[in-house]
Amino acid sequence: MKRFERQLSFALGMCLSSAACIACFILLVLTESWLLALGIDSLIFLISFLVVYRMMIGMTEPWGKVVFALRRLADGDYRYRVEPSTDRFGVLVPYINELGQKLEKTRQSVEDQRDQLNTIVENAASPLILIDDKKRIIHANTLFKKMFQLSDDELAYQPYDALLPYPQLVDIIRATFANNQPMNKQAVLAFSIERRHFDIHTAPIQLSSQPKKGVVVVLHDITELKKLEKMRQDFVANVSHELKTPVTSIKGFAETLLENDGQNPEVVRQFLQIIWKESERLQHLIKDLLELSKIEQESFRLNWETVDLQDVLHDTLILLKDKAEKKQIAFTVRTEGDTRIAGDSERLKQMFMNVINNAIAYSPPESTVTVELKEKGDVVDWVTADEGIGIEEEEIPRIFERFYRVDKARSRDSGGTGLGLAIVKHLAEAHRAKIAVKSQPGHGTTFTISFRKHRPEPPAREGEAHAAATHL
Ligand SMILES: Nc1ncnc2c1ncn2[C@@H]1O[C@H](COP(=O)(O)OP(=O)(O)O)[C@@H](O)[C@H]1O
Ligand SMILES: [Mg+2]
Repeated sequence: MKRFERQLSFALGMCLSSAACIACFILLVLTESWLLALGIDSLIFLISFLVVYRMMIGMTEPWGKVVFALRRLADGDYRYRVEPSTDRFGVLVPYINELGQKLEKTRQSVEDQRDQLNTIVENAASPLILIDDKKRIIHANTLFKKMFQLSDDELAYQPYDALLPYPQLVDIIRATFANNQPMNKQAVLAFSIERRHFDIHTAPIQLSSQPKKGVVVVLHDITELKKLEKMRQDFVANVSHELKTPVTSIKGFAETLLENDGQNPEVVRQFLQIIWKESERLQHLIKDLLELSKIEQESFRLNWETVDLQDVLHDTLILLKDKAEKKQIAFTVRTEGDTRIAGDSERLKQMFMNVINNAIAYSPPESTVTVELKEKGDVVDWVTADEGIGIEEEEIPRIFERFYRVDKARSRDSGGTGLGLAIVKHLAEAHRAKIAVKSQPGHGTTFTISFRKHRPEPPAREGEAHAAATHL
C-alpha cells in the first residue's frame, strides 16, 4: 500500500509542480529572459514538487493503513491489529480492531466445534461416514477407511455408491435420502474371505454449508455377538443331543425289562449293565457340564498356592493306574529341575486327569505314555506323549471346542464326554499357561502345557487370556 501512496503522491506532485512551472515559464517568456526563465522555472518545479509530494504523503498514509488492515482481515488474518493514531482515520481503528477480534473469536469457536466433532467421530468405536447431498463421502473415520480399505484420495473423488460395493448398505443410504428419516437394518457384508455382521444405523443430517440434507452412517460390527449367539444355540443343541442318547437307551432297556417279566437272567444282567453304563455316562456328562459352567463363570477364582507338579502327577497316575493296566499301557515318568509352580492343585489334577486319560483312551494296548516335567527358566513344562492314533493337523485347533471329537464313536466307547479338553483349555487360561499340541496321525500325540512358576499379575482371568492352543 505504501508504494501506491508514494506513486499517487508522486503523480500529483508532478502534475501540480508542472502546472506551476508552465505558469512561471509563460510569465518569464513574456519578459523574454530565456535563461532566467529556465533557472527560476527549475527551482519552482523542485520546490513545488517537494511541497505537494509531502502534503500528499501526509494525506494518503492513514487511509492506506485502513485499507491495508481491511485487506488483511478479508484475507483471513484476523489477528492483524491497527496501531491507534490521531489522524482523521484514527476514529476507525477501534472498529477495525473489534471486527478483527470478533472474527477471530468466531473462527476459534468454529475450529473448536470441528475439533470436537472430529474427536467424537475418530474415537467412535464403529466405522462412521458423513455423506453430503451430492453423494460424496465428506468425512470417514479411520475405522471405516481401514475396514473398507479406502484411501482419502478415493473418498474425495467418487460418490458413495461407486465406492461401496455392498447393495444392502447402498440401499439403506438411498432410502434415508429418499425418506428423510433415520433407519436401521442388519446386514452381512463380505470382506475378501470373511463375512461380518453389521447393525447399520443411518440418519439425515443438515450440514450448514449445504442447502439439502446429508446422511450420517454408523456401522456396528456385531459379528462377535452373532458368533456367541450361534455358539449358545449350538451348545444347547449339543447338550440336548448328548443327553438324548443315553436317556433313550436307558428308557428303551428299562421298558424291555419291564415288558418281559420272566426273562433269561443273563439277558437281564446284560440289559442292567447297559443301563448302568449309560447312567454313568450321563453322570459324567452332567458333572463335566457343571464343571465347565463353574469354570466359565466371571466369579471363578483359583486357589493359588505353591504346587509341586510331581505331586499332582503322582496322584493322577494312582487314579489312572487301573485304566492303564486294563490296556496294558505303561507309564514312563521323567522330571528335570524344580517343578514347583504357583497354581490350584485340585484344578491342576483335573487338567492332568483329562490329558493323561486321553493319552490312554486314544492309544493302542501295550503302548507307552510318557509324562515329563521340565523346569525351563521361568516356566515348568508338562509334556504328555502317547503312541496313539494321533490327530490330523487341521483338527488340532478344534479339539478344544466343547463336544468336538475327531471320532465320535471312539470317544463314546472310551467314556468321553467331549468336554475334557474344553475344561483343560479354560483351566490353562486361568493359570495363564500355554498349550501346544504336536501330532502325527498313526504315530502319537504330544501335549505340552507350560506353566508359569510365579503367580501372574494381575490375577488370572482378570487380565487377558493368555492360553493359546497351537500346534508346533
Ligand atoms: N491323545 C489324543 N490322541 C488322539 N486324539 C485325541 C487325544 N486327546 C484328545 N483327542 C481328540 O480330541 C477330542 C476331544 O477330547 P476331549 O475334549 O477330551 O473329549 P473326549 O475325550 O471326551 O472325546 C477327542 O474326542 C479326540 O478325538
Ligand atoms: Mg477326554
